[in-house]
Amino acid sequence: MCGIVGFSGKNNASEILINSLKKLEYRGYDSAGIAVFEGGNIRIEKSKGRLADLEAKLSTVGEPNGTCGIGHTRWATHGEPSDVNSHPHSTARIAIVHNGIIENYKVLKEFLIEQGRSFQSETDTEVIVQMLDHYYTGNPISAIVQTLRELTGSFALGILFADFPDTIFAIRRESPLIVGVGENASYIASDVPAILQYTKDYYLLEHNEIAVLSPYGTSIYDMHYKKLDKELKTADFDMEAAEKQGFAHFMLKEIHEQPTAVKTTITPCIENGLPNFEGMDFSKYKKLFIVACGTAYYAGVVGKYVIEKLAKIPVDVDIASEFRYREPLVGADDLVIIISQSGETADSLASLRLAKKLGACTLAIINVKGSSIAREADLLLYTHAGPEIAVASTKAYIVQISVMYLLAFQLALVNDKITENECTEYVKLLQTTPEIIEKMLENKEAVQYVSSSLVNTESLFYIGRGLDYALSLEGSLKLKEISYIHSESYGAGELKHGPISLITRDMPVVAIATQTMLFDKTISNIKEVRARGAKVIIVCKEKTEIDADVADYVLYIPDLQNDLLNPMLTVIPLQLLAYYTSVLKGNDVDQPRNLAKSVTVE
Ligand code: M6R
Repeated sequence: MCGIVGFSGKNNASEILINSLKKLEYRGYDSAGIAVFEGGNIRIEKSKGRLADLEAKLSTVGEPNGTCGIGHTRWATHGEPSDVNSHPHSTARIAIVHNGIIENYKVLKEFLIEQGRSFQSETDTEVIVQMLDHYYTGNPISAIVQTLRELTGSFALGILFADFPDTIFAIRRESPLIVGVGENASYIASDVPAILQYTKDYYLLEHNEIAVLSPYGTSIYDMHYKKLDKELKTADFDMEAAEKQGFAHFMLKEIHEQPTAVKTTITPCIENGLPNFEGMDFSKYKKLFIVACGTAYYAGVVGKYVIEKLAKIPVDVDIASEFRYREPLVGADDLVIIISQSGETADSLASLRLAKKLGACTLAIINVKGSSIAREADLLLYTHAGPEIAVASTKAYIVQISVMYLLAFQLALVNDKITENECTEYVKLLQTTPEIIEKMLENKEAVQYVSSSLVNTESLFYIGRGLDYALSLEGSLKLKEISYIHSESYGAGELKHGPISLITRDMPVVAIATQTMLFDKTISNIKEVRARGAKVIIVCKEKTEIDADVADYVLYIPDLQNDLLNPMLTVIPLQLLAYYTSVLKGNDVDQPRNLAKSVTVE
């Protein structure tokens, strides 16, 4: 959730830390802070609010002058966003930044208080720095190892010891951390984009590995002080991919990147017109489970509809935070698919581990290379959306559903539910979608116009049936997370079982009606809400006749001549509707309140 960075080298550490934190603000933006060695002492500057607030403070008090330091951007868990709860946290001899959660912090805090220590903040993090101080007798690694033995939970830490100027000590368990390698410079960061402006080379730190960084290089040790020989990795995307490139927001840029993202994701999985998953045998599974959170979960809902329809294999879709505790009936004949953009989502990772423990085969569909879920799954499919910076997921969703389609085609083929010719036709159709999306994005104005009708709305519904219902879930989430308008999604047929009592003139309804088979049924449901005064926005296929008394606004998608693949297109107006509504309301589109991009805590 939080973002941490560190730099040890020969240049201005404050500047490098702030620049790197700017690339991690998507992970949290409740407060920011840095600690830098200045004249042999550790100087800490921190502030509640966004990085811009810290920068404003630094321009008044002057930035710390040094060449080694650590930095943090916070998504508050323990303690409200405030100056005192901001990181870095410190004692007279040690300063730390932390991403993660210390589950046993209360017990440790009581112990430390008994030892005569006092605490300034409400955070779990302060327990770590006090514990390090408790064990520190001149040997940092020894203090770190002893402290690690006491900690339960997830963490990535950047640590400065006042006795070791220009050196950063870093460690991770569960929470992600990379160690960047430059010329006469070493870096730590929660994510690769943070340091891309300085270097593309990095080590992935594994659980319980300790890195010691100085301008002269980096050494990595295990918990027994054994020096490790790690593989140096090179990022396969550059700074450009992590910049806005003239778009007003990352979200808009990422919406526009979708055609390329889909093409780049599906192309390696297609050979001779058929899906090709390099040696993965999908013919043996009796049942599938798809487990994920948020938008990735909604991609799984599309997957369920498509796989069950084509391959006739039962699919359960679960929210990861439910799956991991509901004692799911998963066994050796099942395939458990974990979908995640970041590959670090705590509940999804725990679900993966549970599925493995229960004997199932696990397949991860992940966007971030080398992430925890990617490394632990039995089978792995990468999506190639590139770095997704906006908190609201767009291109990650569309590549996830494009993989769901390819999987469904493959499962249907290997289970003899479709012929090779039919499979080729489906694949061909999927391959046409990037170009069609490209054209749809040339005509965004219609959606922008409809958005203006939602700006003063307090609450609305998204409805649909079948695959349109799956899309209404994603459309509703997108709108609520960035526009702050209360929004719920319902299967259109479900309205009259309760929710319709909320329909008034002030409750707009976004109705998705792209599935020919279900069209008349959805129109009947629309009429029911119209009769109660609701303003209606319909999303349907072009050339669909919509009577003037049925809808106030109509948003058309091109007709693919096969409704099964409509979600690839339907999602575009839904994303744009959320985007423009948020812009018109003057919200922070890319960093909506209370949210973080990567949810590495339960
Ligand atoms: O990284 P993941 O795909 O595992 O993240 C899952 C959700 O946290 C994520 O999709 C979230 O719902 C987004 N903010 C949606 O836009």
